[in-house]
Amino acid sequence: MKIFFRYLVRYVEGVHNGRIFKPFLKKKDHMEKQKLFTFTSNQSLSLTRLSDSMHKNLFVICIDFALNAITTHGKTKKAEPVKVCITGAAGQIGYSLVYMVGSGAVFGTNTPVVLHLLDIAPMMGVLNGVCMEISDCALPCVRELYLLMTQQLPSKILMQLFLLGQCPAKKGQALDQHAKKSVKVLVVGNPANTNALICSKYAPSIPKENFSAMTRLDHNRAQAQISQRLGIPVADVKNIIIWGNHSSTQFPDVSHAIATVEGKDVPVYDAVKDSDWLKGDFITTVQKRGAAVIQARKLSSAMSAAKAASDHMHDWWHSTPEGKFVSMGVFSDGSYNTPEGVMFSFPVTLKNKQWTIVQGLPIDQFAQGKLDITGKELCEERDEALAVCKE
Ligand SMILES: NC(=O)c1ccc[n+]([C@@H]2O[C@H](COP(=O)([O-])OP(=O)(O)OC[C@H]3O[C@@H](n4cnc5c(N)ncnc54)[C@H](O)[C@@H]3O)[C@@H](O)[C@H]2O)c1
Repeated sequence: MKIFFRYLVRYVEGVHNGRIFKPFLKKKDHMEKQKLFTFTSNQSLSLTRLSDSMHKNLFVICIDFALNAITTHGKTKKAEPVKVCITGAAGQIGYSLVYMVGSGAVFGTNTPVVLHLLDIAPMMGVLNGVCMEISDCALPCVRELYLLMTQQLPSKILMQLFLLGQCPAKKGQALDQHAKKSVKVLVVGNPANTNALICSKYAPSIPKENFSAMTRLDHNRAQAQISQRLGIPVADVKNIIIWGNHSSTQFPDVSHAIATVEGKDVPVYDAVKDSDWLKGDFITTVQKRGAAVIQARKLSSAMSAAKAASDHMHDWWHSTPEGKFVSMGVFSDGSYNTPEGVMFSFPVTLKNKQWTIVQGLPIDQFAQGKLDITGKELCEERDEALAVCKE
């Protein structure tokens, strides 16, 4: 099937000291006679305001989960497109993630997507290159592609390393005012847990369950370590848990993990038969994997981070299979004696686009000690961030 794209470059002054740069692919597909969706002024406004307040290191994926395939009277209508916004899309992770979302790896190959790719003004050339490549991929799922430019941020904000300024608050306010209440937000930019917490705090009209922080990369790293140790496929290892913060205090825990060895499901501890390794080098390897990748690549993890973001949203969209859980940074309700109200990574199951913390797993003294350390760090991060927000 031949797909033709026409670039329409338009520059629109925004309403919140912001601007939107819209080179877009308006798709002409005569064979399928696809309807072209237009970018409404409402959506433009929302994204402009959102982009104005993006933190330098904040990487967010906002997905409108309200849209989905519709089945009426037993007949499946053509699926409505899922609207996806990826901020920092011209960056390393964005480069891989945009393709993954566009290829159907996240929402399914039968679900069309409308991509909103957002970055700062100096990256517009690069982002335009990403758009060109997405066009050249001729991805059947990509129905529309929007390139959005944030306002040039004041240098004071650009110099900040983390979220400890006003940015997450403003961003939360923007979401509060303009985003759909059903929006699902994945925060990848570090410190991911606390960024997500602050973002949510300033968006009180959006359910706090709709915000999440990414610890799936750590989860996948741990899964890969166990599969390599046992010499089994990575798909034969499940129910690993990353507890706590996406930082070196995280606790990768295989006490409840299952490996399929020679056709039989066995606890990972029994399969590995080396608790010193599982309580020592395995944990530190996962905790320090990000630093090891930086040392080797001279750049931070990008392809694997994009795959993890893709997995995270995939499971949120499609649900977790029976008997399987994954790790996700979500609001702590105090489960497992963790501090309430921080964005803590837990084992979760996903169903009907909602997460539930897996309950009742036995926690031994060793694990409790680790949970306490990472919980304490999250409280400190939260308090520091809130103190700066008040200034
Ligand atoms: N949670 C995790 O597991 C995990 C893993 C890897 C990386 N990360 C974090 O993800 C983030 C992105 O990583 P990367 O490697 O893609 O970084 P990168 O520097 O390659 O890309 C970041 C992009 O964000 C853009 N940007 C900066 N300010 C912006 C603003 N105000 N609005 C919109 N875009 C803006 C930059 O122009 C750049 O294109 C970093 O904070 C990194 O630490 C998290």
